[in-house]
Amino acid sequence: MDRYVITGKQRLEGRVVTGGAKNASLPLMAAAILAEGKTVLTGVPRLTDIFNMAEVMKTLGCKADFRNNELVLDTSSLTENTFDQELMRRMRASNLVLGPMLAKYGQVNLPSPGGCAIGTRPMDQHIKGLKELGVKIKVKHGYLEAKVDKKLMGAEIYLDIPSVGATENIMMAAVLAEGTTVLHNAAREPEIVDLQNLLNKMGAKVRGAGTHVIRIDGVKKLQSAEHTVIPDRIEAGTHMLAAVMTQGDILVENVVPEHVSPIIAKLRQGGATITTNGDSVRVQHKGKFKAVDLKTLAYPGFPTDMQPQFLALLTMAEGTSIVTETIFENRFQHVPELTRMGAKIRVEGRAAIVCGVPTLEGAFVQATDLRAGAALFLAALAAEEGTVLERVDYIDRGYENLEEKYRALGAKLQRVVKQA
Ligand code: UD1
Repeated sequence: MDRYVITGKQRLEGRVVTGGAKNASLPLMAAAILAEGKTVLTGVPRLTDIFNMAEVMKTLGCKADFRNNELVLDTSSLTENTFDQELMRRMRASNLVLGPMLAKYGQVNLPSPGGCAIGTRPMDQHIKGLKELGVKIKVKHGYLEAKVDKKLMGAEIYLDIPSVGATENIMMAAVLAEGTTVLHNAAREPEIVDLQNLLNKMGAKVRGAGTHVIRIDGVKKLQSAEHTVIPDRIEAGTHMLAAVMTQGDILVENVVPEHVSPIIAKLRQGGATITTNGDSVRVQHKGKFKAVDLKTLAYPGFPTDMQPQFLALLTMAEGTSIVTETIFENRFQHVPELTRMGAKIRVEGRAAIVCGVPTLEGAFVQATDLRAGAALFLAALAAEEGTVLERVDYIDRGYENLEEKYRALGAKLQRVVKQA
């Protein structure tokens, strides 16, 4: 696996353009299954997770044509409805084809999801919602065998937790169901609004995304559509933190400031200067960042996908911060690695108590998942001397052209490609 060699303590300065959102692109790709004909998505980031999702769709018989950041999906002749175990393990978000496959073809066999590095991540809320719509699901030989019993019927569904994936799967199944579905306690993430927008362009009747109640009036069929993916709020947030951690001045372009408002609020609380203007956010910082407490919550709360990066920032803050993770049960795997760099962190259950140190020191560290990798990347940019960051493949799952972007901002880093 590749590694980064990073020389820290370089002040980052300049402008950086955020790519399209990975977590919006994945459900939009799955939604292509619902349409008659081609779906054209622009602004799709060229990332491992996206390529894996395209592979998943290809195993079902979909044609996927990627040119630069435009992805054309043709699902008019799907031939398979059984997933490959290995692909599913690589790519948890492939479970997003469950809803659309059931809506369009009435049947699908999905490997039972396992856990992942950050938690067990069950699918009970997806299953519960789909059952309400009239799907029969049983687990056999490690597969979820799902089949529409007669036809999908609109229903009143209440999620016990506002799961992002369950909300998306249920929306995509309900668009072709007979009658109206009302989904209560739905997730409110911007990626769900983006999905609603694509589905409505295809001819669906969905309203309420971005609130806790989503109403879907079923239609008979959906047509092809074109859509531009929203900017990636986690990538944008990572760049914003890079400015603060390197005492820098970065103009982050292609960002929806409202989508990063919890991050802006916490950065301002710690003393950073943030200016928003249209679709850009400028972040400047000089001096010590002040300790702040934070708790991850569903949108519009502080995003769990920014917790590791923010925790990395707090390791060098003035004072003690408490970071509480409420979404995933095992999302502090970056802590031991940050400790190698001189951070002082104690984990107690779902909280990390972070005592700020004057500076981090370069070390040999290893990413354990995508955002843990981003946290270590930021820590390395801020640290004294050099850091070797192993398992860059995790970072490749969520950040497009990271080296080019950071070199242009003044970072000193090199990717060492491991020979096969
Ligand atoms: C999505 C994001 C991921 C982000 C997460 C939370 C994508 C591709 N991924 O993941 O980057 O970290 O939202 O913002 O969009 N849960 C259950 N039962 C279920 C479903 C979920 O208990 O049926 C639990 C999970 O284990 C987790 C929490 O709910 O603890 C949130 O999960 P969910 O919102 O579903 O996240 P994902 O859609 O998997």
